[in-house]
Amino acid sequence: CGIVGYIGPRDASEVLLHGLGRLEYRGYDSAGVAIDDGQHLQLRRSVGKLANLAAQLREYPVNGRCGIGHTRWATHGGVTEENAHPHRDASGEIVVIQNGIVENYLELKERLIAHGHQFVSQTDTEVIARLLGEYYDETGSLEQAMRRTLAELRGGNAVVAMTRREPGRIVAARLGHAGGIVVGLGDDEMFVASDVPAILDYTRRVVFLDDREIAVLDAGGATISRLDGTPVTRDPMSIPWDPVSAAKGDYKHFMQKEIFEQPRALTDVLRGRIDLDHGAVLLDELTFRHQELRQLERIYAIGCGTAWHAALVAKFAIEALARLRVEVDYGSEFRYRDPLIGERAAVLAITQSGETVDTLAAMEEARRQNAKSIAIVNAVGSQAARLADGGAIYLHAGPEIGVASTKAFTTMLVASYMLALRLGAVRGVLSADEVRRYIQALIELPGKVERILERQSIYEELAERYHGARDALYLGRQVNYPIALEGALKLKEISYIHAEGYPAGEMKHGPIALIDRDLPVVCIAIRDSVYEKMISNIEQVRARGGHVIAIAAEGDTLMASKADYVIEVPPTLPLLTPVLTSIPMQLIAYHMAVHRGCDVDQPRNLAKSVTVE
Ligand code: G6P
Repeated sequence: CGIVGYIGPRDASEVLLHGLGRLEYRGYDSAGVAIDDGQHLQLRRSVGKLANLAAQLREYPVNGRCGIGHTRWATHGGVTEENAHPHRDASGEIVVIQNGIVENYLELKERLIAHGHQFVSQTDTEVIARLLGEYYDETGSLEQAMRRTLAELRGGNAVVAMTRREPGRIVAARLGHAGGIVVGLGDDEMFVASDVPAILDYTRRVVFLDDREIAVLDAGGATISRLDGTPVTRDPMSIPWDPVSAAKGDYKHFMQKEIFEQPRALTDVLRGRIDLDHGAVLLDELTFRHQELRQLERIYAIGCGTAWHAALVAKFAIEALARLRVEVDYGSEFRYRDPLIGERAAVLAITQSGETVDTLAAMEEARRQNAKSIAIVNAVGSQAARLADGGAIYLHAGPEIGVASTKAFTTMLVASYMLALRLGAVRGVLSADEVRRYIQALIELPGKVERILERQSIYEELAERYHGARDALYLGRQVNYPIALEGALKLKEISYIHAEGYPAGEMKHGPIALIDRDLPVVCIAIRDSVYEKMISNIEQVRARGGHVIAIAAEGDTLMASKADYVIEVPPTLPLLTPVLTSIPMQLIAYHMAVHRGCDVDQPRNLAKSVTVE
């Protein structure tokens, strides 16, 4: 979702609309603004494109100099005006906008209901609004109320609020990495936004908030401090005019930036599609009738490159959660094998760009055989999105520039899980409680990815040690077997080290011949049903002198004694582990490539999207 806020001499509604328009590439389903007209906080919200909000503002203009605006793809609850931001507290005097997901939403909501609150929406943001209201009554200060509220939230959030009782002031805060906050400094005017493009036409002097920081803005300036009260002094930085380096920010490469954007991307892909109250996945974008979903007998999951690996994971998810048969195909193979799609089948096309010609051809084949296709796709309005008569599930990951897919891949996985949960529920395989258990685990993933990203030194160590390797082997089993394939693909595409991914059990039938004292072997060995088996595979590698780099569960001391290097990932439900195990795969490849001096973002011979056969 996108956030914009403004205080200064200009017409706030104009600045907010303009800023929100700059975030249109993220795609959205509703938008809203709250503006202080000197007497009231006026809210204007509307479903659909930004043009609808603009039309509403033309019909019912608001004259004010201070306001906040938001574009949303819904999280909790459907796409309705009541669910659009900003949300108000119980008094109606405080408005708030949020990017992120409140992990302990259900718990907080129950407590507030016990205090007598009556909720008007199904959003987690209303929980924040009502908490702010309660703490405002106690402290009489929006800033203090914000500090207390954030102390209660679990998850990654960017929160922006204002109140009629403190005119000309906006308070913005950031918790975790699921939502950024950038403060823009003008002359006697101040801006705040989730993304730089929203304010770039007004100012290039900006300050980024770090995790657990809060900014209090008025027209004259901004005061930043940590949530614990420690003051922060940070010099503003100047965003360069060149749009490419502007977009890259502080990162060395787009791939690095996109790896670090994953907590936010994983949050955004969930937004609008999950309903914890009812234990349901919404996916309103699917055009199938219930009956049709129940009668489906088969899904063909299609993709190319990294997206094909996502299709392999989708097979595990849909077969396990919906007991529906899935066949996985390469886009480039599908139509040439004269597939028997059949009536009660659907094609699931997975593609970042939505323009990969082989994948599009598979969708056309489905149409020719009267089967519907669903797209899991990042690029808004792309061919795949338009061709998907069964519905396009957008990843909302934002532009992915690095040729090696990172945030698009992990969001593809989450989109696949949601589809599997929806199918499982409609087909009577999963109860609401089981769906809720998975949703709760899904919303905790961004935070867990963040934890993995915090540990960086191991990758530099690995790159230092193995950058001269000629080959590498990646092993995984079950749902992490596709991730072994993905790890190998990543390494070869950006570092040019030859790598193979294998299901670990197959190693003894061939690749074992390659193992010698020079071969690094990356083994995904988390504590799941095949853990013991992975341990024996690791022993086999060790016995032949191979080097083991293990991706293991946090606190696995046994692994520390077996492997040369251990990279830990936090626990989650076994089926969801690929989202976490993918992160070390990306970082290993990235650091190896950097160490070898490769062109990380534009590896030789590859293209970001391949529109020829
Ligand atoms: C190209 C890229 C890969 C990508 C594949 C599929 O080959 O180099 O990184 O995975 O296309 O792209 P898509 O846009 O369909 O996901």
